Amino acid sequence: MSNPTILITGTSSGLGQKTALHFAEQGWNVAATMRTPERDTMLRGHDRIAVIPLDVTDVDSVRAGVAAAIERFGRIDVVVNNAGVGAYGPLELAEEATIDWQFAVNVRGPINVIRAMLPHFRANRAGTFVNVSSYMGLTSAVPTGSLYNMSKFALEGLTEGLSYELRPFGIRLRLIESGGFKGNSFLDNMVFSRAGDGGDYAAVITNVERRFAEVDETRLDDAQTIVDAIHAAATREDARFRTVIGADGNALMAMRNSMPIEDYLDTIAAQFGL
Ligand SMILES: NC(=O)c1ccc[n+]([C@@H]2O[C@H](COP(=O)([O-])OP(=O)(O)OC[C@H]3O[C@@H](n4cnc5c(N)ncnc54)[C@H](OP(=O)(O)O)[C@@H]3O)[C@@H](O)[C@H]2O)c1
Repeated sequence: MSNPTILITGTSSGLGQKTALHFAEQGWNVAATMRTPERDTMLRGHDRIAVIPLDVTDVDSVRAGVAAAIERFGRIDVVVNNAGVGAYGPLELAEEATIDWQFAVNVRGPINVIRAMLPHFRANRAGTFVNVSSYMGLTSAVPTGSLYNMSKFALEGLTEGLSYELRPFGIRLRLIESGGFKGNSFLDNMVFSRAGDGGDYAAVITNVERRFAEVDETRLDDAQTIVDAIHAAATREDARFRTVIGADGNALMAMRNSMPIEDYLDTIAAQFGL
């Protein structure tokens, strides 16, 4: 059998880039898709990787990117919906465009990619979608994170809901609920709405920003731990649907599951002086 092929979105940095390199090193063909391939210096030139333009928010770009990947490799076995952005800050202070952007990349993006891929997976009677969510897709953990929460909760619902109708075609769905990892570029790319000093929200903004600034990198998992979880989700034969990965996420979910929601919300709020 020829080598399997994986298509990954958002491979210009962070987890997507590391996942692309990992699968190529494991002998897979990799369709490494990104919005701005001209900026790539890490993936091009690798003999198992094809760098392909694909903006997940643009349906035409998604269709063209998927078609180019199928044309290049003949068959795609796994798709990793990795591209994602973070819009933080009080909801009231967010620009309309920021709200739309959060939804467009993290929710509409995977919808666009899944819809473009389905004819191919259906024809093959096989295929796996690995959707990169977050523990913020299962529970809230940070005040002013409502938009990001919304996007990952939506991805969770999309993935669960789709699992029924795609079952007859042998198409699998998997979720990765990761937390932060060492060398994180996500916080650098996040948009934090504050509208000046934040007005009535200034105190909570200060608390949240302090929490982000004080993240102790040494406590975080290596990115490879998350990449390994993606690999396991992409290849495992058993039915495991969700993987909560990382010390932070597992501790938080243990707390979330140990108490009534009202107590949990009080506990998180108190951590931020609310
Ligand atoms: N790092 C964390 O703390 C953490 C925790 C839990 C979950 N996650 C999730 O992990 C995934 C990867 O994040 P990361 O940590 O690796 O952050 P990252 O380095 O900021 O990577 C995000 C990627 O998404 C791409 N992207 C943004 N808009 C796009 C679009 N319209 N079309 C295609 N690609 C687009 C970015 O490409 P450009 O260079 O073109 O912007 C970038 O390659 C995300 O889904 C994130 O929500 C991250």
